[in-house]
Amino acid sequence: MKAAIIYSSVTGNTSTLAEIIHEKMEQRDIKTDLFTIDQFQNHSLKDYDIIAVGTYSWDNGDLPLEMEELFEQFETEDVDHVTTGVFGTGDSFYPYFCGAVDLLKDMLFVHTHLAVTLKVELMPQDDDLTRCDKFCDRLVRELAVVS
Ligand SMILES: Cc1cc2nc3c(=O)[nH]c(=O)nc-3n(C[C@H](O)[C@H](O)[C@H](O)COP(=O)(O)O)c2cc1C
Repeated sequence: MKAAIIYSSVTGNTSTLAEIIHEKMEQRDIKTDLFTIDQFQNHSLKDYDIIAVGTYSWDNGDLPLEMEELFEQFETEDVDHVTTGVFGTGDSFYPYFCGAVDLLKDMLFVHTHLAVTLKVELMPQDDDLTRCDKFCDRLVRELAVVS
């Protein structure tokens, strides 16, 4: 069983969230590769059973530019069997809170077995830890359903 987290972050909020999720996956005895979007280049998605994708939102709820290639990779690789989750941070000051999470969610729903989504306001706080636990539990449970 192989699991990965792939994320993009500029000011650190999404990377903190990715690290929390990584730690919680490992606490569940799921060895999980943690990649920034740059580190994931030239890796294959279809080798994984679980993939969690993390992003911030930009420019009226849009996907960051550096995430576009990964988005297209999901659309073109054979990833039907992959159980996925999408998480992100955003700022509810903007009209479309965590819009990039919704864009990824809609695409992953079509191309993968989408299990769960998680939106966090800016830097994760203590009460987000329980939400991260639920995110990981759902990923693992849905993997069991498809395998
Ligand atoms: C120019 C700009 C545009 C943004 N647009 C949005 C947006 O449309 N929706 C949203 O939820 N957050 C938006 N944000 C907030 C960021 O997504 C948020 O600060 C996020 O936590 C940054 O993640 P990072 O620390 O991982 O880089 C925007 C921030 C900036 C600076």
